[in-house]
Amino acid sequence: MSFLSQTLSRVKPSPTIAMSNRAAELKAQGRDIIALSAGEPDFDTPDHIRAAAVAAIEAGHTRYTQVDGISELKQAICDKFARDNGLAYAPAQVSVGSGGKQVLYNALMATLNPGDEVVIPAPYWVSYPDMVLLAGGQPVIVEARLENDFKITAEQLDSAITRNTKWFLFNSPSNPTGAGYSHSELKTLTDVLLRHPHVHVLTDDMYEHLAYDGFEFCTPAQVEAALYDRTLTVNGVSKAYCMTGWRIGYAAGPEPLIAAMRKVQSQSTSNPCSISQWAAVAALNGPHDFIDRHNLAFLRRRNLVVDTLNAIPGITCPRPEGAFYVYPSIAGLIGKRTPDGILIESDEIFATALLDATGVAVVFGAAFGLSPCFRISYATSDDVLSEACKRIGDFCSELM
Ligand SMILES: Cc1ncc(COP(=O)(O)O)c(C=O)c1O
Repeated sequence: MSFLSQTLSRVKPSPTIAMSNRAAELKAQGRDIIALSAGEPDFDTPDHIRAAAVAAIEAGHTRYTQVDGISELKQAICDKFARDNGLAYAPAQVSVGSGGKQVLYNALMATLNPGDEVVIPAPYWVSYPDMVLLAGGQPVIVEARLENDFKITAEQLDSAITRNTKWFLFNSPSNPTGAGYSHSELKTLTDVLLRHPHVHVLTDDMYEHLAYDGFEFCTPAQVEAALYDRTLTVNGVSKAYCMTGWRIGYAAGPEPLIAAMRKVQSQSTSNPCSISQWAAVAALNGPHDFIDRHNLAFLRRRNLVVDTLNAIPGITCPRPEGAFYVYPSIAGLIGKRTPDGILIESDEIFATALLDATGVAVVFGAAFGLSPCFRISYATSDDVLSEACKRIGDFCSELM
């Protein structure tokens, strides 16, 4: 009898860990490493949010709270959905967890039975398929095409749906591509979902506020009101409010689903950190002007990276609408060799050879389910990005 669970054997170890280990190893050897792999803003948590956390400690908010969030935070979340998305939710329809990740996990654990399918567009955030597997479901991957700016089409969604589809897992703007669906693009998908009333929508809106060039964010239940009763809208404070370490994410949706998610959380982690919850109240209810300032920096960096990468023969990089990632294709470099004779057969080999030769750490596309590409996080300074892109260009120009 195996000691480890059979469920766990279905889950892949994170493909990004090998790259991170290699980068750490090289750094320990004194190499000059530029890591473009972090999925978090390089800005500090704004002062008023930090002050709210200190005040929460001083006020003694240091004990267990309600399992899925204090009422003040649930109200702030309802106000956020009304303000930003035109969605009306009552506090009983809201769940707060330790990061968006836990909220997504709770939703899948609370709903999936063996044989249930979850349709996931690729490239996807690395955790989606493995979370589905851990919860006993089956991921069904739909590959978005570069020519379609890494967005899936209505026909693709329609043909992926079967009798067994429980969820369509949607993420816009996307990690890893930054691609954001416009209202009309999303409407083509929600029209498909209207024809399949047994399919629920799990939308991960984590990058809602990180959008550029006037891109107008929209979320499925807002685009198609008829989907409201079968949509769980997930969001969080990690990215827009620079609070990745505070671990607060939330969702709103049908009350019975929220109650089931509460049950999962009550028997695993209980409430998210009480102090972080009060900080999140301050984040959601407080000023938002810093987001525009951050976005100006992100926009400048996105353009710098996209323009520089597109000038490199063999690389094609779409200019995405949001988040802080780009996802260039290296199709034009596959089959070439490095001066040391390494054959670039895959994006994993490309990323490893790039790291070894130049010290630039990126995440290879296979980790996100769509090759041959790699992901750059541009949440770092302009100088670092310029130097990294120069090294990538030099590396590519030496391929034969
Ligand atoms: C698309 C997406 N969803 C969810 C998360 C999880 O966010 P959190 O830090 O709130 O758990 C991330 C974090 O990288 C993400 O990129």
